[in-house]
Amino acid sequence: MVENRGKGKFITFEGPDGAGKTTQIQLTEDVLEKRGYPVVRMREPGGTRLSEAIRQLLLDPSYKEMSAATEALLYAAARAQLVNEVILPALAAGKVVLCDRFVDSSLAYQGYGRSLDLERLRMVNGFALNKLGAFRTILLDLPPEEGFRRSADKIERDRLEQESLSFHRRVREGYLRLADSFPERIRVVDASGEPESVQEQIEKHVLKYLTGRDPGGSF
Ligand SMILES: Nc1ncnc2c1ncn2[C@@H]1O[C@H](COP(=O)(O)OP(=O)(O)O)[C@@H](O)[C@H]1O
Ligand SMILES: [Mg+2]
Repeated sequence: MVENRGKGKFITFEGPDGAGKTTQIQLTEDVLEKRGYPVVRMREPGGTRLSEAIRQLLLDPSYKEMSAATEALLYAAARAQLVNEVILPALAAGKVVLCDRFVDSSLAYQGYGRSLDLERLRMVNGFALNKLGAFRTILLDLPPEEGFRRSADKIERDRLEQESLSFHRRVREGYLRLADSFPERIRVVDASGEPESVQEQIEKHVLKYLTGRDPGGSF
């Protein structure tokens, strides 16, 4: 187990489907690499052999019987493996780690979306996060209708994407409450503008964090 997190920095990107996480994480990676930062990018759930196997279970629409608790524990298990196998070693090696979804997705989707007890979810995820210290979270905020519109041409929707509009409204509301609960860590970015203007806002938050002017916060 890696004890020392080193000089690395950890940045997570959150928000609903279609908010632009994948688009913006790529733009952020390009900006940071141009500036000479050693960047590692990953997505959740996944990023290790075990976590990818768990991802298949989680997103397969045929598992209609999956209970909310099972879903929450599988996400946390995939996360625990990613943290220990990939994220902590990368941080110890001084890398900037960018992650497409992380722990706030669990609180937003399983907590606010599926009404699981938030304190229990926090405990389970605190266990999964192990020795991960302060980090930065960029929350891309967008009404779910707009997210659906942006990804309307997507042919196959996974198990969570198939949820109702009211579910996705609770998720968005949950994300905004999380931003209130973790003001040191989460920065809310209006994701409704053009990709370039969204990127400008993200870049400001990210550079402040990387240069130590804004230390981020823990979970
Ligand atoms: N700011 C934006 N305005 C309009 N469309 C966007 C914007 N950002 C991304 N898109 C488009 O919306 C879709 C979803 O974006 P994506 O980055 O995959 O979101 P996510 O990873 O959050 O689901 C893609 O087709 C992408 O090209
Ligand atoms: Mg994406």
